[in-house]
Amino acid sequence: MKINLSNIKKAKKLLDNENCIAIPTETVYGLAANAYSDKAVQKIFKLKKRPKYNPLIVHYHNIRQLKHDCHISKSFLRLFKKLSPGPITYILRLKKNSKISKLVTNNKNTLAIRFPKHNIAKYLLKSLNYPLAAPSANISSRVSAVCALDVKEEFGKKIKYILEGGKSSIGIESTIVSLIDKPKILRLGGLENSLINRILNQNIKLKLNSNKVYSPGQMELHYSPGLPIKLNIKKSKINEAHIILKKPKKLKKNLFFLSEKGDLKEAAKNLYSTLRKIKKSKFKKIVIEKISKRGIGKTINDRLLRASKFK
Ligand code: TXA
Ligand code: MG
Repeated sequence: MKINLSNIKKAKKLLDNENCIAIPTETVYGLAANAYSDKAVQKIFKLKKRPKYNPLIVHYHNIRQLKHDCHISKSFLRLFKKLSPGPITYILRLKKNSKISKLVTNNKNTLAIRFPKHNIAKYLLKSLNYPLAAPSANISSRVSAVCALDVKEEFGKKIKYILEGGKSSIGIESTIVSLIDKPKILRLGGLENSLINRILNQNIKLKLNSNKVYSPGQMELHYSPGLPIKLNIKKSKINEAHIILKKPKKLKKNLFFLSEKGDLKEAAKNLYSTLRKIKKSKFKKIVIEKISKRGIGKTINDRLLRASKFK
């Protein structure tokens, strides 16, 4: 998307004054604030109704900036060279003298960091002299926002500014890999695990559901549109919104398809906006057909399973 300099200037001014604004990224929109400022970071937690124990991801422009705050390992560098900027978040060790607000990490000695690829996010980060803490721009446990209008829907007048960046091209959150001790995947996301495995030349373990919360994106109920959802359903009733992968030959009022041709990447991109669309319609129940677990299909299934915990 074309960069609008006066929008960037406005965003920068608000951020420099320790405000919290929404920014576009290629995964989902983020609720961003100066990661070095307690005052600014506090505003994120308040607006998002996020529990204080749930740490935030910090977004950087380049490695030089990151080196002030985190210890960098060989495996990080290998992944970084091939996969960043892009939909991957790394958990690294925080440096003792880092300026990251303690509220970001909930006093832990690890930090989640990411380099977004969206050209507007990149341009904005480059113009700031601090990194941006930014969780997904939605009320806690709800569906993430993939365009400016979604963010508006979540926060209404409470949000000072939404930096326009079009629809997120990936549409699903980043994959989280912990590089503390042995590498582990903590959250499935927009980047396929097989790429990480290939680069590190090992089969990385998944740690998606642990009692000890490593990453609250792992919490049971999450990504919920606030309606009951049933999975793996072939036949629907007329009063149920039925989500299917591929555009059907015969369209019906209760059918919502995720991709013209049944492409899983496109389906991931359209998943959250479809859930939001249904939420705004008359349907009070959602059923979803079985979706393949190939590639990004794993992430789609992970999100649907968590969303289906809504009762
Ligand atoms: O794609 C994304 O990652 C988006 C965009 C805006 O960058 N952000 C996002 O943030 O999804 P959020 O806050 O909704 O999810 C971040 C997840 C949370 O589940 C949090 O618990 C986990 O990252 N996390 C943050 N810091 C962590 C840490 N030090 N160790 C383990 N998990 C951490
Ligand atoms: Mg989130």
